[in-house]
Amino acid sequence: MLVASNRGPVSYEAAEDGSLRARRGGGGLVSGLSAIGPETDAVWVCAALGDGDREAARRAEGGPLPEADTGGQRVRMLDIDPDVFAGAYNGIANSVLWFVHHMLYQTPLEPVFDAEFRRRWAAYEAYNRAFAEALAEEAGEGAAVLIQDYHLALAPRMLRRLRPDLRIGHFSHTPWAPAEYFRLLPDDIAAQLLTGILGADRAAFLTRRWADAFTECCHAVLGPGIPSGTRIGVHGLGADADFLRERSHRPDVAERMAALRAETGEGRRTIVRVDRTELSKNIVRGLLAYRQLLDAHPEWRERVVHLAFAYPSRQDLAVYRDYTAEVARVAEEINSVYGTPGWVPVVLHVKDDFARSLAAYRLADVALVNPIRDGMNLVAKEVPVVSDEGCVLVLSREAGAHEEMGEDALTVNPYDVTGTAEALHTALTMPAAERAERSKRLAAAGTALPPARWFLDQLHALDDQTS
Ligand code: G6P
Repeated sequence: MLVASNRGPVSYEAAEDGSLRARRGGGGLVSGLSAIGPETDAVWVCAALGDGDREAARRAEGGPLPEADTGGQRVRMLDIDPDVFAGAYNGIANSVLWFVHHMLYQTPLEPVFDAEFRRRWAAYEAYNRAFAEALAEEAGEGAAVLIQDYHLALAPRMLRRLRPDLRIGHFSHTPWAPAEYFRLLPDDIAAQLLTGILGADRAAFLTRRWADAFTECCHAVLGPGIPSGTRIGVHGLGADADFLRERSHRPDVAERMAALRAETGEGRRTIVRVDRTELSKNIVRGLLAYRQLLDAHPEWRERVVHLAFAYPSRQDLAVYRDYTAEVARVAEEINSVYGTPGWVPVVLHVKDDFARSLAAYRLADVALVNPIRDGMNLVAKEVPVVSDEGCVLVLSREAGAHEEMGEDALTVNPYDVTGTAEALHTALTMPAAERAERSKRLAAAGTALPPARWFLDQLHALDDQTS
């Protein structure tokens, strides 16, 4: 069995002395797939993302990376030409496809599909071809190949042509755009993306909503009917309760809790968010809602702290760097306007630290998860499992997780800052018993399909269909 994704379970940094340091990557895809234990005997094919990775791929000479770095998983990292990789990853996957599926364009001026776009598209095709060829080479007769996400939308069809014997699945970890928005793309590109995925035996999504959007796009762009060979599936990735409970009670987390308590001040309530600094996560409006809470309900001043963890992501793109700067600017502004000698209203951390994230989850009175649009959002599912006293979840109706968690969360429209501020107030004033009850149900809903089962379900569904 093979798994293919752009980001693999590890990423390497080269030190000055030439040694390589392995780190686990962030984001929902890696969290989900990392649960595939060594016992499944899968080979995970991924791309070298930076110079450290390229060096590690060269040292592996086309074979697997050292298992000490990968937690026992068999990982083959593809050393794709850096220009091809940049055009495909930054130029198309993250600047176009991510924007389309999350509806992030400011349409009066963008997108612009010109000659430069076509050059990048050629890189995206070459990148997908490199994956298809590596998978074709690696796969045994009749093997199952599970291809992940928008980076690899063309690979299923390419691989099918090279190896008709394989069973191929594609899984989207993002939302899928509504047909009208998807059709911003040039018609030929839109068709290529859809037929690329339809080259798989099965195309699967995190929620019914995204699966239906994909089907609608197929009808709108390709005409009625999905080619009979491809089935559509839904698998809602959940949080890993056992892992989280154990990990969040280790000493390093207790240490971070003490440090956070010292930062927030004893006895204060906490509103927690943990995200990549990602345009779709809506961190700035979250801060504005908190600001409005302090304005509209001054009784919360000095009694609450917003712990906002925003970890750097995709910093090669100027729009992400600008967004990161804006998050810091708004947080500082709130602190300078409302802060007092004994109270810092927003504690912003930007250095990725998993133990500290878990510490914040444990302390959380309220979790703020307000994305503009999100495939699933695992933070929404993780916090209720880990929080010591049970937390109130303020959740965007545009997060995939809302389909499963909406009933016990406080639902917000992510663009409605006033509505979000009121939801924060309601969350902070919720009676302890109700909060604990809701949190318990949220934890159950959020862990219904833990990663290992989520993965095996996909594999079985692929087997059932083709056997
Ligand atoms: C989302 C995507 C993943 C991606 C992750 C982190 O969860 O669906 O495919 O790996 O974001 O983004 P990055 O660009 O750092 O891999």
